[in-house]
Amino acid sequence: MTSATSKKVILGVLISGRGSNMLALAEAINSGQIDNAEIGVVISDQTNAPGLALAETRGIETLVIRRAGRTREEHEAEIVEQLRNHNVELVCLAGYMRILSTSFINAYAGRILNIHPSLLPAFPGLAAQRQALDHGVKWSGCTVHFVDESLDGGPIVLQTTVPVFDQDTEESLSARILEQEHRLYPEAVALITSGNYEVVGRRVLRKNQ
Ligand code: GRF
Repeated sequence: MTSATSKKVILGVLISGRGSNMLALAEAINSGQIDNAEIGVVISDQTNAPGLALAETRGIETLVIRRAGRTREEHEAEIVEQLRNHNVELVCLAGYMRILSTSFINAYAGRILNIHPSLLPAFPGLAAQRQALDHGVKWSGCTVHFVDESLDGGPIVLQTTVPVFDQDTEESLSARILEQEHRLYPEAVALITSGNYEVVGRRVLRKNQ
């Protein structure tokens, strides 16, 4: 990803469902908050993902690439091929409900982001908000991180916190976190597509500060 040139970084967004984080990225691009990227394609592994229609109404190209009847490798090979066909440089997972294989991660090494609804490394995997409630934490939040072969364990780009209240349900906590996700993911994508960062060990640091 190059910041110094005027060429926009092309994003490929992978979804499986609602697509609200994908929409937050699209709106941040439209508003100029992310000023150096465009979404080249939205790919869903689910035919009926509501996010597909959200993307289409905004004029974003969508593709459905189903896993059905294929190995994970075959499925992902087609996704990677389509990402390359669309000249995608940065992959943004946005509620994509599959774990990526090594070959996918290697194809886009250091160029895959994910958003997760907890303060990683706490509560990786499914139902992070439920895990937070069950654990009794008083603060939770969300994390944008690079994807590596660990489960939600790659280098952290940005995090933000939200309080957990005594009366919270999984739904109310998820809604509070989601509001922050929609703010955090665009900020993280703007940082990464600006190229104004470096990865030192496990730390993602802003440059020129
Ligand atoms: C979000 O909570 C995200 O953190 C998690 O899956 C959910 C996707 O929501 N990875 P949406 O499809 O972006 O609305």
